[in-house]
Amino acid sequence: MNKRGFASDNNSGVHPEILKAISEVNTGHTIGYGDDKYTRQAIERIKEIFGDNIDVYFVFIGTAANVLGLTSITKSYNSIICAETSHIHQDECGAPEKFSGCKVLTVPTTNGKITIEGIKHHLYGFDFEHHSQPKVISVTQTTELGTVYTPDELNKVTDYAHDNGLLVHMDGARISNAVAGLGITFRDITTDIGIDVLSFGGTKNGMMYGEAVIFFNKEFSTDFKYIRKQGMQLASKMRFIAAQFNRYLTGDLWLKNAIHANNMAKLLAKEVEKIPKIKITQKVESNGVFAIVPKEYIPVLQKDFFFYVWDEGASEVRWMTSFDTTEEDVRLFISLLKRVVR
Ligand SMILES: Cc1ncc(COP(=O)(O)O)c(C=O)c1O
Repeated sequence: MNKRGFASDNNSGVHPEILKAISEVNTGHTIGYGDDKYTRQAIERIKEIFGDNIDVYFVFIGTAANVLGLTSITKSYNSIICAETSHIHQDECGAPEKFSGCKVLTVPTTNGKITIEGIKHHLYGFDFEHHSQPKVISVTQTTELGTVYTPDELNKVTDYAHDNGLLVHMDGARISNAVAGLGITFRDITTDIGIDVLSFGGTKNGMMYGEAVIFFNKEFSTDFKYIRKQGMQLASKMRFIAAQFNRYLTGDLWLKNAIHANNMAKLLAKEVEKIPKIKITQKVESNGVFAIVPKEYIPVLQKDFFFYVWDEGASEVRWMTSFDTTEEDVRLFISLLKRVVR
């Protein structure tokens, strides 16, 4: 049996209901490449949630959703503005730049959120052919630091972007955790506040694989089927991504999983706060806990419960919880922390 740790929600398995859903559609033949009833059902379900006036395309992974979504709303001479902690900047091996051709410009942040002040700094050189032309602001919800934008904070970004002729992309790899944490709906932080393109994640919250690129402005989706194929993300056996989304979005499985993961992070944080030598560095608003742990203890802890060091210089670690983290996992980890970090 593989032991559960606190390294990443990517390290968890697949929710049993999702596996069952995959198995249930595994009968007979269906047309490939998305022209099947399961894919149509999944798109309908997503439309019920986000609104009718959208276009939806499934891809395999989150990096592809980001990269292809961004490619479809930019030209190679554009620039994309994001927080310096963004996955598109830190963890996609330059794929956004390679595929879109765009320059990625970063904004300093202390909590993972982009700021208007930081964006402003990049808004110059419009119409000047020597300068890459700012086109997209990309925000991550939940942020890479586990914090969550409120609808109001996001609204300010989208208004500012649109007032300045820019578009807004949301990396929603963990949008479900944000929606669960805020106690709102998906629409409140996407459709209703003017997000243009969303990478809608499933993998990190219980699916095996599969993300959706959702266009709220259909003007930008006209070429996406070609961009997705060129980007090598058109699944021949699409029904198996669709079946996962169908189950994920039925009976609030996405919400149950996200609430549970968030609660496990809250429990972990509550107990960690009692350990004097450990300092939590970010608000715990979703399924991640960031903390400074004295360097000498980290390798000892990692032997029993694997997790990643987030910032080596600061000795800051990241502990992620998942839909399958149990209270017992948290309790055991806390007792290890109490034994080691003293
Ligand atoms: C915020 C965020 N966006 C996007 C991704 C990309 O997902 P994938 O690894 O499926 O490409 C990740 C993965 O961890 C992530 O944390």
